[in-house]
Amino acid sequence: MGKINKILVPVDGSVNGCKAVDEAIFFAEKCKAEIDFVYVSSNINKDIPSHIVFDRIWEKVPETIKAEKHVETGNIPKAILAVAESQKSDIIIMGSRGLGLFKGALIGSVSQKVVEESKIPVMVVK
Ligand SMILES: Nc1ncnc2c1ncn2[C@@H]1O[C@H](COP(=O)(O)OP(=O)(O)O)[C@@H](O)[C@H]1O
Ligand SMILES: [Mg+2]
Repeated sequence: MGKINKILVPVDGSVNGCKAVDEAIFFAEKCKAEIDFVYVSSNINKDIPSHIVFDRIWEKVPETIKAEKHVETGNIPKAILAVAESQKSDIIIMGSRGLGLFKGALIGSVSQKVVEESKIPVMVVK
C-alpha cells in the first residue's frame, strides 16, 4: 500500500460506526489525508434522514482535515464500493457492526460484503 491520501468512511449513524470515524480522523491527521464520508440510503434505513447521520460526525472532524460527505441510494455495499472507485480512495475504514439488531455474526453484512469485494484495503473497526 502506498501513501494514504484519501480515506473512505461509510457511516450509518450507529455508535459502532462512530468508532470508525474516530479511527479515520486519527489516520487522516497522521497521513495528512482527506476523508470522504458516505451514507447509503436504502429500503432498510430510508426513515433515517442523512443529516442526522452526518451532524454528529461533522462536529468531530477538525478544521485541519479536508472532508466531504456523500449520500447515495441503492444497494449499500455496492454503493460504498462505487464511491471508493469514483473518489479514488486508498483505504476504507468502517465499523464491524452498525445499526442492525442481529448481533450473532462477527461482523455485519455490509462490512462483510465490502471486505469481500473491495479492491483496496479495508479496516474494520471493532
Ligand atoms: N447505510 C449505510 N451507509 C453507509 N455505511 C453503512 C451503512 N450501513 C452500514 N454501513 C457501514 O457498515 C458498518 C457495519 O454495518 P452492518 O454491516 O450493517 O452491521 P449491522 O448488521 O450490525 O448493522 C457500519 O459501521 C458502517 O461503517
Ligand atoms: Mg446495518
